[in-house]
Amino acid sequence: MRPSRREWLRVGLHAAVAPAIMIPQARAYDIGEIEAKLAKGNGIDGVTKDDLPTPSLLLDLDAFEANVQRMASHSAEAELELRPHAKTHKCSEIAKRQVGAGALGVCVATVREAEAMAAAGIGGLLLTSESVGLNKIHRLIRLCERRPDTMAVVDHIDNARQLDEAARASGVRLNVLIDVDPLGRRTGVPPGSKAVSLAEAVDRLTGLRLRGVHGYCGASSHVKGFAERKAHSAKYMAPVLESHAAMLKKGLPVEIMSGASTGTYNIDSDLKGMTELQVGSYVLMDVDYRAIGGRGGDIYDDFRPALHVLATVISKNHDDIATVDAGLKAFATDRDFGPEVARPTGLTYAFRGDEHGALMLADSEREIVLGDKIELVVPHCDPNVNLYDRMYCVRGDHVQQVWEIDARGHV
Ligand SMILES: Cc1ncc(COP(=O)(O)O)c(C=O)c1O
Repeated sequence: MRPSRREWLRVGLHAAVAPAIMIPQARAYDIGEIEAKLAKGNGIDGVTKDDLPTPSLLLDLDAFEANVQRMASHSAEAELELRPHAKTHKCSEIAKRQVGAGALGVCVATVREAEAMAAAGIGGLLLTSESVGLNKIHRLIRLCERRPDTMAVVDHIDNARQLDEAARASGVRLNVLIDVDPLGRRTGVPPGSKAVSLAEAVDRLTGLRLRGVHGYCGASSHVKGFAERKAHSAKYMAPVLESHAAMLKKGLPVEIMSGASTGTYNIDSDLKGMTELQVGSYVLMDVDYRAIGGRGGDIYDDFRPALHVLATVISKNHDDIATVDAGLKAFATDRDFGPEVARPTGLTYAFRGDEHGALMLADSEREIVLGDKIELVVPHCDPNVNLYDRMYCVRGDHVQQVWEIDARGHV
């Protein structure tokens, strides 16, 4: 039976207005549901960025893989070993891929990071912060029992003696690098005779095995401009390298000379005596590093921004401004600048409180509407990662994996 005109109009009208008021079929997964999907072993096929809770941390797999490969190729060409710093990502899945691309292992900044990496099967660990106090010393020694190739740094003979005693009591020999301070800034024995004397003393302790020198010049990493950065690093690393050379001359077993950062990876590689790179941020990148300038210009683009915070536009009542659900709790706030909007282009961001951020729309590439997804490059990657439990690994719009930030917590 043909519908009556009234019936036709009713259905027709309904069909015409329905799309505007209809909410698309909900596929808004919470974290538990995504994990349940993963547990079934079918991957998370069909889940896109639109399905994710916000704010969330995204890892752009194409950019991430390009970064891993670029640093691996660089160190191979420079004939240097690579032991990337896992303090940046605190994620054993990332560490596995770095090792898979040729890294010896990873550096860690805390015993907690070392334990998490070891639990995930990552070896070749170098703990780059001093282990002082009974808690850290005993956990380090326990780790060394499980992973005898673990290395730690020392910058003081008292600490070296404590480590030696704990190692001998457990029947292990702890690999040790002398932490030499390039700039009087943070940790490390001063370069020169003090560093050499400490190396000699450590070499005499039977519970320790002297392996080399650790010299990290964080002050060089963000110096703006390639030439300026190069001059800075050369100046401050010179005394460290001289100390290492003096130890070698004395016949001390210091085969390792470890240092460098993302900002100096292609600078410190040319310094005579370096044997390995402990670069970290290159794998994720952030606003801070983008601004230091590279060989080619003002933007440092040797590595691609791979880490983004995904946010949702939750309020849009003005032509020139919209509000997203990512504020002070979604980003590290240790820098005097905030995140940058990667997608859509032409937007700028400003903090508007704990859970809110403002988007300035004047130069937006397109109209911004309620519910839009916004991707932002984080100001400083290391502390930003540490705010989240997991990262969603995406290729284009599709979520392919979820990686736990398993070394997070107990900083
Ligand atoms: C001791 C040490 N080594 C290496 C790195 C890696 O530096 P970047 O993340 O700048 O590459 C850091 C970072 O803070 C560090 O503290």
